[in-house]
Amino acid sequence: MKKRKMNFDTLAIHAAEQEDQNQSLNTPIYMTSTFTFTDLQQADDTFSFKRRAYVYTRGGNPTINLFEQRMAALENGIDSVAFASGMAAITSVLLSFAKVGDEIIAHRNLYGSAFGAMDHLFRDYGINTKFINMTHLEELEGAITEKTKVIYFETPTNPSMEIIDIEAVVSIAKEKGIKTVIDNTFATPYFQRPLELGVDVVVHSTTKYISGHGDAVGGVATSKDQDYIQRLKFGYMCELGGVMSPFNAWLFLRGLKTLPLRMERHAQNAQLIANFLVNHPLVEKVMYPGLKSHPGHEIARKQMSGFGGIVSFELKGDLEKAKTFVSNLSMLKLAVSLGDAETLVEVPALMTHRDYPEEELHKFGFSKKTVRISAGLEHPDDIIADIAQSLERLS
Ligand SMILES: Cc1ncc(COP(=O)(O)O)c(C=O)c1O
Repeated sequence: MKKRKMNFDTLAIHAAEQEDQNQSLNTPIYMTSTFTFTDLQQADDTFSFKRRAYVYTRGGNPTINLFEQRMAALENGIDSVAFASGMAAITSVLLSFAKVGDEIIAHRNLYGSAFGAMDHLFRDYGINTKFINMTHLEELEGAITEKTKVIYFETPTNPSMEIIDIEAVVSIAKEKGIKTVIDNTFATPYFQRPLELGVDVVVHSTTKYISGHGDAVGGVATSKDQDYIQRLKFGYMCELGGVMSPFNAWLFLRGLKTLPLRMERHAQNAQLIANFLVNHPLVEKVMYPGLKSHPGHEIARKQMSGFGGIVSFELKGDLEKAKTFVSNLSMLKLAVSLGDAETLVEVPALMTHRDYPEEELHKFGFSKKTVRISAGLEHPDDIIADIAQSLERLS
C-alpha cells in the first residue's frame, strides 16, 4: 500500500517518531555527553563505520537527531543539522560554501548579527560580502561575478518585512551554479517552505517561533542534499563545535507540536496590529506583507500561506517619538527576540541592528526610528489597547 503523506500539523507532532523501549509518549532527553562501548572491538567497528551507533553528543544524539529529522519533514528536506544558535547555523552554512577569495551576495536587510558576521568577521578571513537590494532582481544579476559562491537572504526580512521573490532568486542562482541559503525564521515552515521552491539550504533561529516560549537558544539548517548535510554536520557543526544541547532539542520538539496553532494566532494578531497602525494619524508607515499596500504583498501571497507575526512601523516625527512610544507601553515588553507568547517590542537601530552603520540605515531598508513588534499570543484587543494608550500619550 502506498504510504499516505501526512499533513503539516500532524508531521509537527509525529514525523520521524520512534518507539521508545519504555513506551514513553515524549522522546527521552538523552542528557549525555558520551556513549559507551561494550569492548574495543565494538568501538573499532563504530569508528570504522561498520556499525552505526552514537559516540559523542557533538557528533550525534538521539534527542537532537529526532529534532533534526522532524525539522527536515516540516521543511520538506532530507535531513537537518541542529546548532547551538541561529547564528551558529548561519555562519557554519555560509562558511561551508564560501572560502578565502570568494564572494557572498546578501540582501541588505538582515538580522543585525548576520549582517555583522558577513560585514566584519568574514572580511577578516578573506570572504567579501556585497549587500544589495534583492527586491530589485536586476541588482542581483548585476552583482554576480565568478567569485560569487552563495546568495543569502531572509524573507520577510528583519526588521523591514521586505519580501524577496524566492523562485526568481533561485532561477538566477541556478543558471550560474550559485548556492542559495535562506533564513526562514520569520515565516517558519508553516507559512513558507523554500526548499520546495529550489533553495539549497534553509536556516532557522529556533530560538524564535520553533521554541515559541522564549526559553531556549538554538538553530538548524535543512537541505534536500544528504551528502551536503553530512559535510555540514561533520565538517562544520562538529569541528566548529556549535552543537545544540539535547535539552534544548527536546524543548524545540515540544514547541513544534503547537507551531501551526501558534503561527495562526501570531499572524492574526499581527494583521490586526498592522490594520490598526495603518489607520492611525500619528503613524507614518507600516511594514507588514499582509497589507495590500505593502510592495511585496503579491509575492508574499504567492510564496507564503500566511504573512507571519512581525509588524514594523515608523511614527511621524523623530526618534524621540519612537523612544517615548516604547517607554509608554504597559503590557508589551521591551525586548529583543521574537516569536514568543508575549508581544515584544524593540527599536532595531538601538538594539538588535547596531552592527549596521548608523548614518546609512536608509541604504539598508530601515531607519533609526523603525519600531519592530513581535505579535504575541495575547488577546488582540489587549495588545492593541496597550499600543493605542501609548500612542494617545504621544499626541
Ligand atoms: C531572522 C533571524 N535570524 C537569525 C537570528 C539569530 O538567531 P540566534 O539568536 O538564535 O543566534 C535572529 C535573532 O534574532 C533572527 O531574528
